[in-house]
Amino acid sequence: MTSPDTIHDLLQLRFDDVPEDKGEVPALWETIAGRQSCRSFTDKPVDPVLLQNLCALALSSPTKSDLQQRDIVIVDDPEKRARIDALFPAMPWMSSAPVFILFCGNNRRLRQVSEAQGVPFANDHLDAFFNAAVDAGIALSAFSLAAEAAGLGTCSISAVRDHIDLFDKMLELPDWVFPIAGMVVGWPARTPRVNIRLPLAATVHTNRYDENVQETAIEAYDKRRAELRPYGSQRDPEQFGEAPLYGWSHDKARQYAVPQRTDFGRYVRRKGFTLE
Ligand SMILES: Cc1cc2nc3c(=O)[nH]c(=O)nc-3n(C[C@H](O)[C@H](O)[C@H](O)COP(=O)(O)O)c2cc1C
Repeated sequence: MTSPDTIHDLLQLRFDDVPEDKGEVPALWETIAGRQSCRSFTDKPVDPVLLQNLCALALSSPTKSDLQQRDIVIVDDPEKRARIDALFPAMPWMSSAPVFILFCGNNRRLRQVSEAQGVPFANDHLDAFFNAAVDAGIALSAFSLAAEAAGLGTCSISAVRDHIDLFDKMLELPDWVFPIAGMVVGWPARTPRVNIRLPLAATVHTNRYDENVQETAIEAYDKRRAELRPYGSQRDPEQFGEAPLYGWSHDKARQYAVPQRTDFGRYVRRKGFTLE
């Protein structure tokens, strides 16, 4: 058991509006409350046995209808790793991490099982893609928490979808198997700082969806963010100018002013999904 004060301090720092729970709390809460993405790794390798155990923990997570529609691809071939790392010069944490893995949604096995059973697969629609994507995301989250509880650092990498055809080909992903995100894993070179989040007031709803406090909550969050976790630089100042107070909403709006991964739908359809 961990001190509730430690957990509360971490949660309060993150959200600014978490009621204090004075009861005993499990150590896992501290891992979750204190987690953060890691973007700086030592050279120390990750034991392959540890990696397999982390995969087992990740795949112990819940899975829709026990369908198990998610897989992990470990990339430890040095030549493939070098090709992957070279794709991301702006993300030096990729090449510094000893481990790279890819989380995939997998709706293929279910179709194969149906075929082997001689039973028609009657769910060729958007839900087939969605369920596999959600399962893969849940496994990704469980993996990173298990790794962080063991003292490792992780950083998920959705940027793999910027090069989706290349990953698809290099890792020989068949139809109905698609990447949701990569992840780099290693021993942290330094302890990253806990990131802060939107307050619960804006993101936890009771009985009905309620946007009443959203505007003021985002405003307060932007101020906290600028004060406690300022962004290193502002995005696209040439287009948007220099904001006197640059917080989360400014950064995210500017980020999504630029189209990203517009070919993902095409890729997913090419993998065999109808998405209707
Ligand atoms: C699905 C997913 C994809 C992500 N993709 C990237 C990425 O491509 N590059 C990166 O540096 N961080 C990536 N991240 C990390 C996020 O930027 C990070 O979680 C977010 O900024 C919040 O910070 P924190 O995890 O330290 O709390 C990703 C996270 C998730 C969950």
